[in-house]
Amino acid sequence: MAAYKIIDHTYDVVVVGAGGAGLRATMGMGQAGFKTACITKVFPTRSHTVAAQGGIGASLGNMAEDNWKWHMYDTVKGSDWLGDQDAIEYMCREAVPAVHELEHFGVPFSRTPEGKIYQRPFGGHMSNFGAKPVERACAAADRTGHAILHTLYQQCLKHQCEFFIEYFAIDLIMENGVCRGVVAWNLDDGTLHRFRAHKVVLASGGYGRAFFSCTSAHTCTGDGHGLAARAGLPLQDMEFVQFHPTGIYGSGCLITEGARGEGGYVTNSAGERFMERYAPTAKDLASRDVVSRAMTMEIREGRGVGKENDHIYLHLEHLGAETLELRLPGISETAKIFAGVDVTKEPIPVLPTVHYNMGGIPTNVHGEVLRPTAENPDATVEGLMAIGEAACVSVHGANRLGTNSLLDIVVFGRASALRAAETLKPGTPHKPLPKDGSDLALSRFDRLRNANGSMHTSEIRLAMQKTMQMDAAVFRTSKSLAEGCAKMDQVAGTLPQLKINDRSTVWNSDLAEALELENLMDCALATIVSAEARHESRGAHAHEDFPDRDDVNWQKHSLAWVENGKVKLDYRPVHTYTLTDEVEYIKPQKRVY
Ligand code: FUM
Repeated sequence: MAAYKIIDHTYDVVVVGAGGAGLRATMGMGQAGFKTACITKVFPTRSHTVAAQGGIGASLGNMAEDNWKWHMYDTVKGSDWLGDQDAIEYMCREAVPAVHELEHFGVPFSRTPEGKIYQRPFGGHMSNFGAKPVERACAAADRTGHAILHTLYQQCLKHQCEFFIEYFAIDLIMENGVCRGVVAWNLDDGTLHRFRAHKVVLASGGYGRAFFSCTSAHTCTGDGHGLAARAGLPLQDMEFVQFHPTGIYGSGCLITEGARGEGGYVTNSAGERFMERYAPTAKDLASRDVVSRAMTMEIREGRGVGKENDHIYLHLEHLGAETLELRLPGISETAKIFAGVDVTKEPIPVLPTVHYNMGGIPTNVHGEVLRPTAENPDATVEGLMAIGEAACVSVHGANRLGTNSLLDIVVFGRASALRAAETLKPGTPHKPLPKDGSDLALSRFDRLRNANGSMHTSEIRLAMQKTMQMDAAVFRTSKSLAEGCAKMDQVAGTLPQLKINDRSTVWNSDLAEALELENLMDCALATIVSAEARHESRGAHAHEDFPDRDDVNWQKHSLAWVENGKVKLDYRPVHTYTLTDEVEYIKPQKRVY
């Protein structure tokens, strides 16, 4: 292995990722007096949170009566009873102060005529325990994530947090099961950096790019998942991949659910508003798994639109140019650019598209990463936290409600900082790092940099993406999943044949993409193997050979350990208890929309 010079840094806390979760944690750590670094492979305000559109869920009750207990009920129901109810209680209760806090930080929310934060309806959010849709999504037009991300970055700067921008985290530094830091590569000048920290917070986002068509940015490559997996930690509930009903046909670009919240609706080739058949109460505002499945059924049964009858129309024309300009300016522009559609005149061609990973690195409500054992399924890993889409806390269970991801990132970003403040004193002295602490990272970096096989990253990545798109789809069967596992085994087996053309260390995107591919591959393997093993249908996991939810055998979290391309599975119990006596555990019910 080449001898690499390493630059050393010491911090109380290092956060990996600068999306909404990473920035909220970074800001909170800075505010608590910790010397805090945030490592990010893209400029913070270019993180994927910038693409979140429709709103952040909180029962403010600005437009109609609302209650955090109704929000909790909807989230549990949306999760199809796989969510941990202590965590869901925490998130829904904290939603209201979290949004007010954002308002005070300076997020430019849209306003009602009385000057309150504007709220719109969103899929699965109902008043009075499922009675009728309620306006709960607090929106900044259709650019809510953008507004939040920019505000949080400013708050981080105010609290003197330090940013290492365009740094790629290669691996964690672990010592006897304790996380002691992280090794990162500065893409800009090629230098390698060793960050020593009492706490490392993984906030690196999801892994949508394991699929061929997704709404996720190209940066969503499961980097934190890869770091955790290589540290011997499991990934949880990876089979639950959310398809957003309205990705633009062809490009996959997101058209916010807020469009249906404002009164948009979907139709088939007969011009029928078919959601009335599938979800008579919630209709177009049923939760995403329900709408995505209904759209897929319509297409399968020959009622899709277009030359190939292979997509669906989303209508907004009837909303009028003024409302579209005021409430949905971003997607009006996106539809024009990516579908050539003037939304004031024509419907947008849409298709369910991979959007969100409910699974991730298991944590408790404080953001502490779990290393479950048979004796203690909630045992934690000292020094390691995970938040946001990288984590599985689990508030989304088998299916996330729209607007609950922006909520998750701010609530649990904040929770991780509160926990750090409870358990660590700023400026606590550090032990020296173990001599071999960086070996895993350096050998991985060197191996890939010098990879001299016969296959390019793009070739292996495409094979993985096509397999996942085809075999871990909206509907799954025993056959498709078994074939998917066999194909993914074969695709992962080609990783040792990688060829990197560029051997330099400065802005070597060839090498960066190979590092990302390894992370994606671990995620893809965990997803398909966990899906193949789950013999029921729940939330986003719609298994045609096991069409019913099976609470007796399957109300449990999947755990997947990935090592050298092989996956080992186990399970841990769902938390069937709440955090306080203020609410009771919501028992499993049949989902009716
Ligand atoms: O449809 C949307 O605006 C997406 C929101 C979300 O995923 O929470």
